[in-house]
Amino acid sequence: MRITFLGHASLSIEIEDVIILVDPFISGNPKASSIDVNELDADYILVTHAHQDHILDVETIAKRTEATIISNFEIVNYFQAKGLEGHPMNHGGNWDFEFGKLKYVNAIHTSSFPDGKYGGQPGGFIIEGERKTIYIAGDTALTMDMKLIPMHTRLDLAILPIGDNFTMGIEDAILASDFVKCDKILGYHFDTFGYIEIDHEMAKRKFFEQGKDLMLLDIGDSIEL
Ligand code: NI
Ligand code: MN
Repeated sequence: MRITFLGHASLSIEIEDVIILVDPFISGNPKASSIDVNELDADYILVTHAHQDHILDVETIAKRTEATIISNFEIVNYFQAKGLEGHPMNHGGNWDFEFGKLKYVNAIHTSSFPDGKYGGQPGGFIIEGERKTIYIAGDTALTMDMKLIPMHTRLDLAILPIGDNFTMGIEDAILASDFVKCDKILGYHFDTFGYIEIDHEMAKRKFFEQGKDLMLLDIGDSIEL
């Protein structure tokens, strides 16, 4: 499994030959100007919730690649009405895709489309692919529901928002990593806007002091699991 950070909460995940994009927000992110939306491949696009900074490039990419959009029922309906392919899920549900087992899990946040339409309830994803399992928290507060995750699965990586203000900050993300029982963390949802700027060295040190490894990737950089 190879995970590439595309800025903000956008990821590209390669599992064998399958490419999964997560929350593509690239054309609206000046920090991600090195990424060309028109060159991104996708077999699937996972969408955690309907906010602009998570769905901006979904339509453009899905139209060109014919990727299947996977999200909650409301978000998938919204894109299906535009003629795009989708697979609706809802909280607690699992489905076996060609890349592995996917579960849509709870997140504490809001979810409305840029035009104010209801975007269902926000979520996160657990991907059990090949031999590796990852948790993509989406935009969320720290929540006790995270404690349910290690009851079912052992995570190899937790991808957690750390930018604070709209989501968990660093202190709560450290607790979240305890809740999900995973000490290897990829931070996301930071630095894109003034509200979520963080001190990278301080963040890494705070995780390190709790025996945890926080990774912060430059935009375009990848890790291999
Ligand atoms: Ni959001
Ligand atoms: Mn967001």
